[in-house]
Amino acid sequence: MERVQTEPVAIPKPAARTSQVLLVTDRDKTVGTITVPDPVFKCRDVNVHYGDKHAIKNVSIEIARNQVLAMIGPSGCGKSTFLRCLNRMNDTIPSAVVTGSITLDDQDIHDKRQDVVQLRARVGMVFQKPNPFPKSIYENVAYGPRIHGLAGDRVELDEIVHTSLQRAGLWEEVKDRLNQPGTSLSGGQQQRLCIARTIAVNPEVILMDEPCSALDPIATARIEDLMEELRQSYAICIVTHSMQQAARVSQRTAYFHLGDLIEVGETDRIFTNPRHKLTEDYITGRFG
Ligand SMILES: Nc1ncnc2c1ncn2[C@@H]1O[C@H](COP(=O)(O)OP(=O)(O)OP(=O)(O)O)[C@@H](O)[C@H]1O
Ligand SMILES: [Mg+2]
Repeated sequence: MERVQTEPVAIPKPAARTSQVLLVTDRDKTVGTITVPDPVFKCRDVNVHYGDKHAIKNVSIEIARNQVLAMIGPSGCGKSTFLRCLNRMNDTIPSAVVTGSITLDDQDIHDKRQDVVQLRARVGMVFQKPNPFPKSIYENVAYGPRIHGLAGDRVELDEIVHTSLQRAGLWEEVKDRLNQPGTSLSGGQQQRLCIARTIAVNPEVILMDEPCSALDPIATARIEDLMEELRQSYAICIVTHSMQQAARVSQRTAYFHLGDLIEVGETDRIFTNPRHKLTEDYITGRFG
């Protein structure tokens, strides 16, 4: 947790193309490898409509364990919509219709027997704006374990709260003020509190939708360091508008454009040698 990096990572310019390298312009098929070994999520032909608006178009992708997947693309391309598919948060939007297959550990998340509250504990979400409950710091973290029955007694609950705050890199800053409101913390601390709250219920996957866009560079660096630690235990999917951030924190990157998943691949490869013209235009700043 020592690194405080405020310098952007220099993103190398895509290598000059040789005549053998083909710029792919076929919009029907995602470029790159959508599969991974032992995926936590498998998504096939996922479509999302909001009324007439076709927001996600036949997206197929697998999500790896112990990796950060960055989702990038211009505003309105469907990044948040796709992220919300993974823990069925689109269920809360009346006009949203999701079709296709999404499995978590090979189980269909749309199965009638799937409890949505359990699903959202297994697939936690951190939002752009930190949103602590209007409760104490302690209660923000203890709430989930309590409703999911994860602690037998107060001692165990205290232990979960302690461990979660520690793993979120917040314990030292809050250990003497656990009874103060979560909202009394700074923005960066509130975001780490929300991460502690997510961790407290033993998730498998953490979804983050622009988690640093309301934070200063130092708070951002702390969250980025935290992501590197957390991926040892969880799969992480992050939506970001910062390509420097995607390059710093992720191992794999997915580029969306107008609801299509255009390209997916190793982050280093995507930023140095994009294979689709649309990806290249975006990462070189010619679009969006
Ligand atoms: N609740 C909704 N009702 C109707 N249309 C919606 C709704 N939410 C999103 N959309 C539309 O779906 C498309 C994808 O939106 P989404 O929010 O997923 O994009 P995004 O890539 O996350 O954009 P941004 O980078 O601006 O956050 C957009 O055209 C948007 O207007
Ligand atoms: Mg969004």
